[in-house]
Amino acid sequence: MNGSDRGLSRRAFVRSAVAIGGASALAACLQREETADVPQAELAPDELPDRQHAWNEFLAEDDHGNVEPPEHHLLLALEYVGDGPADAEDERERLEAAFRTLEKAYKRGDEGLAFTVGYGPNYFDRFDADLPEGVDLPDPEALAPIEDPHLDEYDALVHLASDYGHVTLSAEEALKGELDELNGLAVEDTFEGIFDVAERRTGFIGRGLPAERQSGVGGIPDSEPVPEDAPLFMGFKSGFRKTQASEDRVTIDSGPFAGGTTIHLSKIQLHLHQWYEQDSRDQRVAKMFSPTHADDDLVEGAGHNLGDSSGVAEVGGDAAADARNRGTVGHAQKAARAREDGEPIILRRDFDSTDDDRAAVHFLSLQRSIADFVKTRRAMTGSDLTEGSVNSRTNNGILQYISVRNRANYLVPPRRHRSLPEPNPE
Ligand code: HEM
Repeated sequence: MNGSDRGLSRRAFVRSAVAIGGASALAACLQREETADVPQAELAPDELPDRQHAWNEFLAEDDHGNVEPPEHHLLLALEYVGDGPADAEDERERLEAAFRTLEKAYKRGDEGLAFTVGYGPNYFDRFDADLPEGVDLPDPEALAPIEDPHLDEYDALVHLASDYGHVTLSAEEALKGELDELNGLAVEDTFEGIFDVAERRTGFIGRGLPAERQSGVGGIPDSEPVPEDAPLFMGFKSGFRKTQASEDRVTIDSGPFAGGTTIHLSKIQLHLHQWYEQDSRDQRVAKMFSPTHADDDLVEGAGHNLGDSSGVAEVGGDAAADARNRGTVGHAQKAARAREDGEPIILRRDFDSTDDDRAAVHFLSLQRSIADFVKTRRAMTGSDLTEGSVNSRTNNGILQYISVRNRANYLVPPRRHRSLPEPNPE
C-alpha cells in the first residue's frame, strides 16, 4: 500500500483504505489521518438515547440548519453463525458488550462514531414467533418495472459512520475481534463466533469528495466531469432539512420495538455518460429537481444556494402537468408526491461508493415502516406519469441513469433490544 498511495490526496487515500479494509489498511490509514484527537464518549452508554438512529443531534449542521452526514461509511452485512434461532443469553451479553465498547471508545457523531445495527427478515424467520403487529418488515422485492435486483438475505447489518475513515475501520476490526484496544480503551467483547461478515460495502459523502474520487471509476466519463462543490456523483446536494423526514417521523411509536425504525438499503449503480456529456446543465437541473428550477435558474452549482429546502414543494410545480406539457419531470418533484401532511416520510442517509471501481449509491433510508419506503419509491418511479410524452425512462427524473442491483430491508431495534432480539422481546 505504501507504494500505491503516492499521488493520492489524503482523503482519497483514506477512502481506498476503507474500501480495502483489514489490519494493514487500518495501519496505513492511521498513518495518514489526523488521529490524535478523536474524542472518547462524553456520555455513558446509559445516557445515550434509546433510539439507535438518533444521530442528528450529534452531527454537524451547515449554516442553513441542514444536517451534515459523516463523510465515511462502512456497511457490514452479517450472517449469524448458529443454525437455529439466536437464543443464547451469553451471546446476547457478549454482543451488547461489543456495542458498548464502541459507544465508550468514541463520542457519538461525525467527530467520533455513529452506528446502527439492524436485523433482516431471515433473522426473524429463525424463530417460531412472529414480529409483533405493527412492525412492518417484509422480504425485499423488486419495486420498479425495469429492475431485477438481487434480494439480499443477510441476518443483520451494521452501519458505521464517521468523519474519520480509520474510526470506521477500527470499529470493524474491534467487532471482529482483531483489536485489544479501541481509541485507548480495552475492547470488552466482540461478535467473533456470533456473526461472520458476509459482505462489506463502503462509501463517502461530502463536498469535494466525489470529484476527488471520480478518476478511473466505471460509470463516470473519463473527462472527470463531477464538479468540485458536489457532495454526490450526480453533482447536486441532497438531504435538505425540509426535504427529509424527522427522526420522530421515522420512529416506531408503539409495541416492544418502540424507539426503533426500519432501514431500506439498495445498491444503485450510476451511468453518468449521457448525464454529463449530452445533457445540458438545464436538463440536469430539470431532471433532478423540476423543469421550473431550470427555467427560473434556481440552482447555482450543486445547489448549496437553496438553503434549507430544494423548493420542489413550494415552487416545483405539478409533476403530472410537467409530464404532460413539458415532457420532463424532476426526480425530487416526483418523490415529493409521497409526502404526508407536507412532510417527507423517509429519512435518507445514503452515500456514494466506488466499491469494485464502479460509481454507485448505497441508498440507505430510515422509515417507520417499509411501506413508507415503497410508497416513496413508487412516487419516484412515476409509472403514472408516463402516459403522455414522458417516456417511462427518458426525461423521467433520474431513472435513466441508475440501476438497482440489490435490495434489503432491516429492522433497527431500540438500543435496549439491539443485541440478538427475539421477535417479541417484551
Ligand atoms: C441514485 C440516486 C439518487 C440521487 C443522486 C438522488 C438525489 C436527490 C436530490 C439531489 C434530491 C433533491 C434534494 C433533496 O431534497 O434532498 C433528492 C430528493 C429526494 N429523493 Fe433522491 N436521489 C437518489 C435516489 C433516490 C431514491 C432511490 C429515493 C427513494 C425513494 C429517493 C427519494 C428522494 C426523496 C423522498 C426526496 C425528497 C422529496 C421531497 O422534497 O419531498 N431518491 N434526491
